[in-house]
Amino acid sequence: MLVAQLSDPHIFARGKLMEGVVDTAANLSLALASLENIAPTPDFIVLTGDLVNDGEPEQYDHLKEVLGTSLDSFIVVAGNHDDRAGLRAVFPQLSSVGSGNAPIDYVIDAERDGRSLSLIVLDTTVPGEHAGALDATQLEWLDVQLGERCDREVLIVQHHPPFNSGIGFMDTYGMHGAEAEAAVVAKYPNVAAVISGHLHRPATAAWGGTVAFASPSTAAQVSPSFNGETTSYTDEPGMLSLHWWTDEGVASHVQPIGDCGRWVPEWAK
Ligand SMILES: [Fe+2]
Ligand SMILES: [Fe+2]
Repeated sequence: MLVAQLSDPHIFARGKLMEGVVDTAANLSLALASLENIAPTPDFIVLTGDLVNDGEPEQYDHLKEVLGTSLDSFIVVAGNHDDRAGLRAVFPQLSSVGSGNAPIDYVIDAERDGRSLSLIVLDTTVPGEHAGALDATQLEWLDVQLGERCDREVLIVQHHPPFNSGIGFMDTYGMHGAEAEAAVVAKYPNVAAVISGHLHRPATAAWGGTVAFASPSTAAQVSPSFNGETTSYTDEPGMLSLHWWTDEGVASHVQPIGDCGRWVPEWAK
């Protein structure tokens, strides 16, 4: 069972580049095209937030064009650069998940190959803030959802990583409520992993009795600067994440978008 994760595409209005350098729409298109060459076809494609850069209608309009006609096939997560109402206007599947500016928290239950799976989507955004948060109401909701799904394999999906990465400016903002979330998750050994975005860099941590993962971005990667220096990016390409999810757990992979090629060494022929 494969879960593809496309994170932080940061789409701009048509014709505008990220920092005048990165064509984020072209990168997202390439990421989507990359999935067509991956076998097996992903069972789920999750978009883990910061789908656009400034929450503006023309950016969402551009996002819609890049994603194409199957908008309802994506599992959509809100990021701090998003606008909840803007997301609801683009994705019809969110129409049943509250309205307006209410947090976009929801669950997808699915049966695959005799396995009962649940993806719990948490909205860690705080309108107008860079930092993330889960409030007491959301954590109580999470506890209830997990309590009702003790016999299922669960993946939690959210924008902000619940762990510190060591990258100074990211940790400074961080995610409020992360410790309380860890305490809830630790009660349920059937949580296979927590996958997130926001970091623009692959990172994992043992957390809450499970593993927490932060995905790189399809647009641009943050420099792994552990000395607290200012925000900086690398020249690495856009990347995507692939989660191979079996009843033994989740193995998470990252790879550059585009054609990575494939060749077989002599000894293996
Ligand atoms: Fe981002
Ligand atoms: Fe973010």
